[in-house]
Amino acid sequence: MSNKSLANLMSEERRFPPPAELAAHANVTESAYAAAEADRLGFWAEQARRLSWSTEPTETLDWSNPPFAKWFADGKLNVAYNCVDRHVEAGNGDRVAVHFEGEPGDSRSLTYAELQREVSRAAHALTELGVNKGDRVAVYLPMIPEAVIAMLACARIGAPHSVVFGGFSADALATRIRDADARVIITADGGYRRGKATALKPAVDEALTRPGTENVRSVLVVRRTEQDTDWTEGRDVWWHDIVDRQPAEHTPEAFDAEHPLFILYTSGTTGNPKGILHTSGGYLTQTAYTHHAVFDLKPESDVYWCTADVGWVTGHSYIVYGPLANGATSVLYEGTPDSPHKGRWWEIVQKYGVTLLYTAPTAIRACMKWGDDIPARFDLSSLRILGSVGEPINPEAWIWYRENIGAGRTPVVDTWWQTETGAMMISPLPGVTATKPGSAQVPLPGISATVIDDEANEVPDGGGGYLVLTEPWPSMLRTIWGDDQRFRDTYWARFEHRYFAGDGAKKDQDGDIWLLGRVDDVMLVSGHNISTTEVESALVSHPKVAEAAVVGATDPQTTQSICAFVILRGTAKEDDGLVEELRAHVSKQLGPIAKPKRILPVAELPKTRSGKIMRRLLRDVAENRQLGDVTTLTDSSVMDLIQTKLPGAASSDD
Ligand code: WT7
Repeated sequence: MSNKSLANLMSEERRFPPPAELAAHANVTESAYAAAEADRLGFWAEQARRLSWSTEPTETLDWSNPPFAKWFADGKLNVAYNCVDRHVEAGNGDRVAVHFEGEPGDSRSLTYAELQREVSRAAHALTELGVNKGDRVAVYLPMIPEAVIAMLACARIGAPHSVVFGGFSADALATRIRDADARVIITADGGYRRGKATALKPAVDEALTRPGTENVRSVLVVRRTEQDTDWTEGRDVWWHDIVDRQPAEHTPEAFDAEHPLFILYTSGTTGNPKGILHTSGGYLTQTAYTHHAVFDLKPESDVYWCTADVGWVTGHSYIVYGPLANGATSVLYEGTPDSPHKGRWWEIVQKYGVTLLYTAPTAIRACMKWGDDIPARFDLSSLRILGSVGEPINPEAWIWYRENIGAGRTPVVDTWWQTETGAMMISPLPGVTATKPGSAQVPLPGISATVIDDEANEVPDGGGGYLVLTEPWPSMLRTIWGDDQRFRDTYWARFEHRYFAGDGAKKDQDGDIWLLGRVDDVMLVSGHNISTTEVESALVSHPKVAEAAVVGATDPQTTQSICAFVILRGTAKEDDGLVEELRAHVSKQLGPIAKPKRILPVAELPKTRSGKIMRRLLRDVAENRQLGDVTTLTDSSVMDLIQTKLPGAASSDD
């Protein structure tokens, strides 16, 4: 990609220094960078002391057999004890751990003392169902407190969980049950979504008819919606029948720091899902530290809300493990942001006095599209830090988030990480960094990341290439479940001794890192590399565009040509001049080479349930091909809609 286009992207650059008040009382200050730089392992050994170990580790990192790392290997701890019991023992049993808000409007708050009792009962119940240390448990639940309780109960007895997002199909569930060889499944009759009770249990029943799932002995079912549910005697057990009668005390056993905590399958836009394996001590150390540092958590006064689903890594690390290890009070919301009205999220922020909010750019852009007047109706003055994760956040959305949700005063922290990294890796620190809209900026203290070119040379400031991690980190994935070779090949083969994240990135003149999307999302147009993200950012910076997705379509003349799908803002009209206006706008922003050849206004974009645009499907459309697999789409009717636009769709050839 040309430096000119990057310069243009960043010419909108403004800096926002941390609010003085926040900086004065920040959990983490500038000195953390120097401390970690001087002694990286010593820094992490110190962070591990945030946890309560039953055997303190003496060894920090064993990297004698790369890429297989061991962190704090001779330490022992119980993760659930760290997330729950120790807060009760410290006298904080009455503090709320989870404010649950159901989509229909029901709510329930669980204190740490109550959570301890629930987790203890659930741990006993799993043991009664024959779950032993090391056995895998699949969790397929809506966003209800039992999801958190189930994960912690598994952690408590050393049974790795494999949480499968509740929106996945029976087939996706079966693949994951088979790969992990799960013995027990925890599910619910259903959950509420967009005002409807949606069944979950039938997908489990169907998954269990598939070959390779025979080892599942029991299905533990939470009653949430009270809808009619088919029952297999001898296999299915109601949660309330078995969990509620268990003793409320349970003695946690200490496990090795490297004991597996969970497997989480990456949403994978191609190929078989990869079972990312995370272990205990290092994972909990980094999730706790980053949550403390990046959200500046003050557990006595903050109310924290991460809008992700527990089925994604964001939910694992920043709904469950990081916040609870830190003794935080969190909000857990079951439903969608627009149910029953488009102000639902802001109503929740107002109701609980949320101070720290963590969400995804796709949601921010949806809110932008619905209009500024919606959040303006609510009191959002409690908010003090806003986080973003999941994809590059275009400067337009970043500014909108800060202005309309954060009243122009809250820092926005753009956090880069992956399922594989387990915890945040690159992010501003809210009390230290002068933030830049659109950039994740710098590796967190203790993290070594850089940008390199094809020959593995570090690029100078102003240059672009591939994001790599150059030193092991505590919450790194340990392997791909059952496939060490795939682990080596996928992440460690492209560049020797470096973890290749699969993302393209640039360093600006200050050395700050800008993520440019997956490297497979870079287009080659007449010999120029152009990132889809840059063109999307340029389109979204036009006042009539709410959202954009860009793909490279095979083109006989230019190798690839740029094809853009755009969602217009509420009031914008799709008329003849519009497409030309948008093309001219991109050309002005990024240069004529980045001008889309075709622009198609559409009503929706195809996204995976974690909010990633499925460019593969848009490429199929752009190249007039039969659509590939749509099973990971949130809403498969989206593609039908887009395809109806196709014949004679707005295209322009020059
Ligand atoms: C990929 C990882 C991390 C939890 C949610 C997604 C993209 C993530 C950012 C960001 C630019 C980002 C990357 C990464 N990504 N955060 N702040 N800026 N890109 O987890 O499903 O494993 O996806 O999401 O492309 O590699 P995931």
